[in-house]
Amino acid sequence: MIDFHTHILPNIDDGPVDWKEALSLLRQGMEDGIRGAVSTSHVLNRLDEILENRMLETFQELQLRARQEGIEMTLWLGSEIHCQSVFSYTSKVATINGQRKYLLFELPLGDIPLDANERIFDMGINGIVPVLAHPERNMQIMRNPETVFELVNRGVLMQLNGGSITGVFGTKVRKVAEILLNHRLIHFVGSDCHGGGSRPMLLSRAYREIHKNWGEETARNLFYRHAHLAVQGKPVSVPPPISFDRPRKKRWFGF
Ligand SMILES: [Fe+2]
Repeated sequence: MIDFHTHILPNIDDGPVDWKEALSLLRQGMEDGIRGAVSTSHVLNRLDEILENRMLETFQELQLRARQEGIEMTLWLGSEIHCQSVFSYTSKVATINGQRKYLLFELPLGDIPLDANERIFDMGINGIVPVLAHPERNMQIMRNPETVFELVNRGVLMQLNGGSITGVFGTKVRKVAEILLNHRLIHFVGSDCHGGGSRPMLLSRAYREIHKNWGEETARNLFYRHAHLAVQGKPVSVPPPISFDRPRKKRWFGF
């Protein structure tokens, strides 16, 4: 499995606080069957040169320390960029594996701000495929999951948190995750691990759940194939989403 969304760099964001915690997260992932992970630390305001260099240096040191510890997990560098952050597509850490092809972005949990739509449009005209982090946790999407159908039709791909389908974030989030999977609106899965015990690097339960309910082909695409292509900057061909058929309104004719 490839974990497409992780917070594994120590002291960059609200992820691990030191090397010990970062390495124990990777060991936990290995035990769970994760063999590749994209490091996606938060960029909440501005991705400047100082933050870029810190992320690059910390990532290289993590790769080195993991190798020294015998942790055979392939790591790629990217970011989880807030939709209202200031950044450049040319930054080495903005896009997944610096390929300038896929970019993981997040929305506020409450709504979808207007400038997020402008940003999605801007990514499209710059040849970047936006990947929305955990849409199932956004309140506006929870109220109206059909929004995701519209976003996918505009070229956005979707990353589900593994814990959302296993119930870690509650029954409502789980229900929304099921709706999105039923409509073929999910393309990647990530643990969104942060460490600290409560946000582990685990995906195998989610894999089993998706394998059981949506089949082997979907599970392999979501947990391996799509991520494998994305880290190389190659096109990911996704099946067309299934539209939401609204129940027809009853018509009443008065005589
Ligand atoms: Fe995250």
